[in-house]
Amino acid sequence: MKGIILAGGKGTRLFPITKGISKQLLPIYDKPMIYYPLSVLMLSKIREVLIISNPEYIDFYKNLLGDGSSLGMKITYQVQERPRGLADAFIVGEEFIGNDSVCLILGDNIFYGQGFVPRLDAAGSVKDGAVIFGYYVKDPSEFGVVEFDSEGNVLSLEEKPNQPKSNYAIPGLYFYDNSVINRAKSLKASARGEIEITDLNKGYLNEQRLKVELLGRGFAWLDTGTYDGLANASDFVRTMQKRTGLYIACLEEIAYKNQWISKEALCKLGQVYKKTEYGKYILSIAKS
Ligand code: TTP
Repeated sequence: MKGIILAGGKGTRLFPITKGISKQLLPIYDKPMIYYPLSVLMLSKIREVLIISNPEYIDFYKNLLGDGSSLGMKITYQVQERPRGLADAFIVGEEFIGNDSVCLILGDNIFYGQGFVPRLDAAGSVKDGAVIFGYYVKDPSEFGVVEFDSEGNVLSLEEKPNQPKSNYAIPGLYFYDNSVINRAKSLKASARGEIEITDLNKGYLNEQRLKVELLGRGFAWLDTGTYDGLANASDFVRTMQKRTGLYIACLEEIAYKNQWISKEALCKLGQVYKKTEYGKYILSIAKS
């Protein structure tokens, strides 16, 4: 399975912060935002990742993450000329995906909670069909919304409905079989001029090839696309890390625990950041 991070978009809900910088480079407490979705792909054991961003920002991501080899990964980059919608990821990424299945994660989504890795393992084994998630939120109208019947079967999917039929929003983490490329190509733009991932998911639903897994209330899914979302996510990461002493989205730690890099390589990476708590944390992992 391959992984794609969508790190483009307009970021209009964060203006003026994002007038001069790509949203997914903004800090969430002690790391750039894109570390968090990248960590989710790494936890899914996905080693080949494509980062998609706007022409003016793509080099910033290259400077930040390079070719991924220091993490034992292969990271490549591609430009999305304009934000044509989330489903465009599979058209831009066609060559990268090749004959594989693919996981798409939005660059501004943060996931954290117990039991996440087994859920990722299960979703990642998809060969035929699609797996998406549902998460209970107070106001789902800003998101894709999924409605269930009393037996948990999916009744409908709607994109940003004014009157949501349920409280279950669809987080920005999606697993697809290889047919997603051709499905994305056949989508028509919506009224807002985007090719919608919800339309893609509806195609799978109509063929009974869509699985929606619920993430429980003990789980954190944070969307960092607004001022409050950004501040709340930073507070959350800071609180959890200070309390437990364990880091959220420390890429070097995950690479090491996945056995993608050696202890020596981990030490070297820690040395680069040794003036910071982040670097000290990496060095402490290497010693343990
Ligand atoms: P959105 O939050 O829908 O859009 P946005 O980031 O442009 O923000 P705003 O609504 O404030 O203008 O996008 C979700 C994520 O997907 C975000 O990380 C940006 C990314 N994205 C792309 O990379 N390409 C696209 O075509 C779109 C629509 C989004």
